[in-house]
Amino acid sequence: MKRRTNQARPHVTRNEDLIFERTSPGKWGAELPPLDVPAVRPEQLLAESFREDVEGFPEVSELEVVRHFTRLSTWNYAIDLGLYPLGSCTMKYNPRINEAVSRLEGLATDHPYAPEQLVQGCLRVLFETMRCLIEITGMDAVSLQPAAGAQGELTGLLLIRAFLDERGQKRKRILVPDSAHGTNPASVAIAGYEVQPLKSDARGCVDLVELDHAMTDEVAGLMLTNPNTLGIFEGQIRRIADLVHARGGLVYMDGANMNALVGVARPGDFGVDVMHLNLHKTFSTPHGGGGPGSGPVAVNKTLEPFLPAPTIEQAADGSCRLNYDRPQSIGRVRSFYGNFGMAVRALAYLLAYGPEGLRRATEDAVLNSNYIKARLKDIFDLPYDAPSLHECVFSDRRQAARGVRTGDVAKRLIDYGFHPYTTAFPLIVPGALMIEPTESAGKAELDAFIDALRSIAGEIEEDPEFVLKAPHTTRVRRLDEARAARQPRLRWKP
Ligand SMILES: Cc1ncc(COP(=O)(O)O)c(C=O)c1O
Repeated sequence: MKRRTNQARPHVTRNEDLIFERTSPGKWGAELPPLDVPAVRPEQLLAESFREDVEGFPEVSELEVVRHFTRLSTWNYAIDLGLYPLGSCTMKYNPRINEAVSRLEGLATDHPYAPEQLVQGCLRVLFETMRCLIEITGMDAVSLQPAAGAQGELTGLLLIRAFLDERGQKRKRILVPDSAHGTNPASVAIAGYEVQPLKSDARGCVDLVELDHAMTDEVAGLMLTNPNTLGIFEGQIRRIADLVHARGGLVYMDGANMNALVGVARPGDFGVDVMHLNLHKTFSTPHGGGGPGSGPVAVNKTLEPFLPAPTIEQAADGSCRLNYDRPQSIGRVRSFYGNFGMAVRALAYLLAYGPEGLRRATEDAVLNSNYIKARLKDIFDLPYDAPSLHECVFSDRRQAARGVRTGDVAKRLIDYGFHPYTTAFPLIVPGALMIEPTESAGKAELDAFIDALRSIAGEIEEDPEFVLKAPHTTRVRRLDEARAARQPRLRWKP
C-alpha cells in the first residue's frame, strides 16, 4: 500500500506564530456597551502621547489573545515542573509561603518614601533579614542594597577600595583564581582594579605557592569563590587569609555558593573580610530573567563604616531607623533599600526552616550532588576528583573522542524531559558538564536524571550522529546559537 505523505500543518500548540502574524483586519478583542456618559477623545486625555499612526497593530479576538499567551506559557521549563540542574545557579524550589507573605498588604503596598514611624514593620523585616545573614555568615554587618550577586561583588570591591584609600594605599590589583565565577574578574575591572589570575593546583584549589608569589604590596586583595566553581571547598582558607592579611590585602569571598555552607561553616570564622550572598540562589527567592535579585554584602568591623547609606539600625527603644549620617560611606548602590520583596521572601524561608532546617538543606544539597557524582563518574570523566560539595563538574573528554561535546549531550537531555546542566563552564574544565541538583530534588528524580545521562552515554557509543542531531522531540530543533548571540534580529518585520 502506498504511504500517504502528511501535508497537514501541525497544530499551533506545536509551534506558535507571533501575535502580529495572527492579525485579521477588523477583529476586535472587547465588546463594550454604548456610552452613557459624554465621550472623551483619547487625545484629550493623552495629549501628545496619543498616536493614531501605529502600523501593524495586531487585530485579534479575545480568545486568540488568551490562547496565544497560554500556549506560550506552556513552552517554559520551570523549577515548578522538574529538576533544573544548572550548575552554579542553585535552582532550588521557591516555597509558596514566601510568595504568600510577600503579597501581604502592608509589605506589598507600603511606599519607600513613607515616614519611618509608619513603616516600622517593613524596616523590621529588613533588620531581621540582616540579623539572620549576620548570624549565618559570622560577619559583623550587612547591606541589603545590592540588587544582584554581581552588584554585591562590585559593592564589596568598592568597600575594599574605600578602606585602602583611607589608609593612603594605592594598590592596583586583585588576585582572582581561575576557578572563580565569571562575574568576579568583570567586577574587579569595573571597580577599577587590574585582574591578576591565579592558577589552581591539581586538586582545583588555590595554590599556596602561587599565592605567596603573587601577593605583593601592589595587590589590594584576593577574590575567592568558595566553594569554588568546581564545587570544592577551599580547605586551606585559613592559611590563605593569613597570607593575604600578612601582606596588607583583604579577602573577598564570593559567597553565592553558600548553599553548601549555611549552618555548617561561617566565612567570618575563617578570615573573610567581605563577601556577598545571592538571596536568589541560597535563600530560595526566585531568579528572574535578569532580576529582581538580591546580592547582600556582608563585612567585618573594619569595613563597616564604608557600607552603602542609609544603613538600617535599631534604636534604644527597639524601633528601627534609617541612618544617613555615614560620612565614610561609599554612598548608595541602589535606590531605596534594595529589592525589598526579596528580603521578605528570604526572611520567610529563613524563619520557616530555622537553624536546624537550614543545616539539613545544606546537607541534602551536598548529598544530592555527591550521589550524582558517584553514579556518573564511571561514564563521564571527572577531572578534579577532590571531595566536592553542592555541585559536581565532569568533562566530556570520553564522549569527545566520539565527536560529541557537552553541548550535544545537553541537547539530547532535553529529549529526555530535563533542563540541561550548565555547559562549558567553569573554563578550567574543557568541555564541562556542571551539575547542581540542589536539596529540592528527591531520589527518584535524581535517579531518572542519572539514568538519562547514562542512556545518552550509551547512545553516543552506538550512534554518535543521532546525539549530534538532538533534540529530536522539541518544537524547534538545533538553533544557530552563535548567530543568535552575535547577530540577533530583535525586530519583527512582516
Ligand atoms: C558563584 C557566583 N558568583 C556570582 C554570581 C553572580 O550573581 P548574579 O547573577 O546575581 O549577578 C553567581 C550567579 O549565579 C554565582 O554563581
